[in-house]
Amino acid sequence: MKYQPHDFHFRRAKSEGYLARSVYKLQAIDQKYRLFHRGMKVVDLGAAPGSWTQYLLEKVGPEGFILAVDLQTIRLSRPNLQTIQMDVWSPELESLLQEKLWDAVISDMAPSTTGSRPTDQSRSALLVERSLFLAQRFTRRGGFWIAKLLEGPELQRLRQAAQQTFETVHIVRPPATRKGSTECFLLGLKKRL
Ligand SMILES: C[S@@+](CC[C@H](N)C(=O)[O-])C[C@H]1O[C@@H](n2cnc3c(N)ncnc32)[C@H](O)[C@@H]1O
Repeated sequence: MKYQPHDFHFRRAKSEGYLARSVYKLQAIDQKYRLFHRGMKVVDLGAAPGSWTQYLLEKVGPEGFILAVDLQTIRLSRPNLQTIQMDVWSPELESLLQEKLWDAVISDMAPSTTGSRPTDQSRSALLVERSLFLAQRFTRRGGFWIAKLLEGPELQRLRQAAQQTFETVHIVRPPATRKGSTECFLLGLKKRL
């Protein structure tokens, strides 16, 4: 499949002032499940360059709060946004997350691709597991979790792991996902105690 760097969603993101086309994946998930509301506190993992963060800031409003984490710099600044350049595996992140009770942990993290599909899939699965662990530890009862997965043999295992924590788990493939991509999103709703 030919890769189209400047496709419809890319041009749309540019014209609407979003930092990446990924925003339309989150928007589609939100439109379907009505997840984000004013005043929410959300952890955005793998946030750079920042289109999901931009979307979240609009949805939670000034009374909400976003913590955006990435290995790369996130060039956004708002009073109710904390950006940190950090590896999600860092124990420091756990200390930081302990400071608030979060409504949601969401992850668009993707490993740098190696060219070997099984390697990329298993690295992606590890990032999903890390985000699930952080959601289990730091979100409130009733909270939710979203994580991007490069789909592979780990999907059902991860889904079952998420079902231990959330009442409902969906696998979502938003329309803005690039043609030929095997990515999907796991969505865990209503965290149990
Ligand atoms: C597809 S991009 C995210 C796009 C972003 N959601 C947006 O809307 O602008 C994936 C990001 O995951 C980040 N990432 C990958 N592994 C990570 C890790 N171990 N810790 C933190 N961020 C990571 C990458 O640096 C990259 O910026």
